[in-house]
Amino acid sequence: MDTFENPLWGDDWTEIRALFDALQPGHAYLNHGGFGNPPRTVVVNQQQWRARMDANATRFFRRELAPGLATASRAVAEFLGAPAGDLVALVTNVTAATTIAVDSVPLAAGEEFLVTDHGYLTATWAAERRAREVGASVVTARIPLEADAAGIIEAVLAAVTPRTKVALIDHVTSSTARLFPIEELVPALQERGVIVIVDAAHAPGMLPIDLAALSPDYWGGNLHKWGYAPRSAAAFWAAPKWRSTLRNPIVSWGEDDGFPLRLQEIGTSDPTPRLTTPNGIAFLRALGPQRVREHNVKLAEYGQAALASALDVDPATLPGDPGVPMRVVPLPVAFDDPRDLQAEISDRLGVEVAVPKWNGRTLLRVSANIYNAPAEYDRLAAGIKSLL
Ligand SMILES: Cc1ncc(COP(=O)(O)O)c(C=O)c1O
Repeated sequence: MDTFENPLWGDDWTEIRALFDALQPGHAYLNHGGFGNPPRTVVVNQQQWRARMDANATRFFRRELAPGLATASRAVAEFLGAPAGDLVALVTNVTAATTIAVDSVPLAAGEEFLVTDHGYLTATWAAERRAREVGASVVTARIPLEADAAGIIEAVLAAVTPRTKVALIDHVTSSTARLFPIEELVPALQERGVIVIVDAAHAPGMLPIDLAALSPDYWGGNLHKWGYAPRSAAAFWAAPKWRSTLRNPIVSWGEDDGFPLRLQEIGTSDPTPRLTTPNGIAFLRALGPQRVREHNVKLAEYGQAALASALDVDPATLPGDPGVPMRVVPLPVAFDDPRDLQAEISDRLGVEVAVPKWNGRTLLRVSANIYNAPAEYDRLAAGIKSLL
């Protein structure tokens, strides 16, 4: 285990770090936003579910799975502030959630599907595929990397036309790590007659969520990123008026049972990550969500400042949003395939980061979680220039 300290968290940080003992020793894992990482306690709980499944798969899939998913769904729905008595569908990831939304939303020939140039690539591809199939078109709102909240709202609304039927909006963007003001955007779009799909891949656990107040048309968020669930756990919610027309691209055993069963009983797949979601939430709550969030944001800011100084960039010019423990720094050179640089940073510096390509630019994106420490960002900052 690494021996460094983390004064931003406090004296008990070594015990926290030890909970993430699956992480490669000596490697700085600064890409939590990419795929998440569950703590040991959650992994142990998932193993207990696995043991039940493997002991008697017939009993598990026929008699235990449905009540188990219902319990998990209630816990996740409460965590996300869903309307009282409402459930969420537990699906494997946000890619599935957005595909269900995009394939289900009413859209006809001649209408427009609005996306932004900060959108997640596969989600945008889903919108393009659907638009192609029905003879609609995709319109992309272009938003500057450093736009403030008012600028984001203005850019999105400026792209709305009388033909705009549906908009796909991220809560927290992937490549650019920006927070979109969805509390203003969702009602502003709906007032203009636009159906809104929210890609909230990063939001659960990272930000407090009040689905009932937000009232989007369709919403999907991962539990396996900032909600400490094992990978392959996400929530999907749709407004009641859209539930009868939800179309799951892969047919569920609950096809005739409405929402959420129509979306969540997909053949023989491993449901244990989804069954474990309440444990991820309990882990976050035991530590104190506020403490976790404040720590993570401060550490991400620290990492961004260290990189800015190493790359001679004025940190005041860099984007960064309250509550978002991910930060980007644009690199002075653009890479054709940023995955080469990502692999080199891993091999030569022992650091894992995201290196998104965005609008022709190459960005470095660092995430911060409770298992990270300032010294890990210092190591990245000390070595990055030599790799460019
Ligand atoms: C904004 C956004 N949408 C969708 C996804 C896809 O998430 P998943 O791979 O869990 O489906 C991500 C993953 O990073 C993301 O950042």
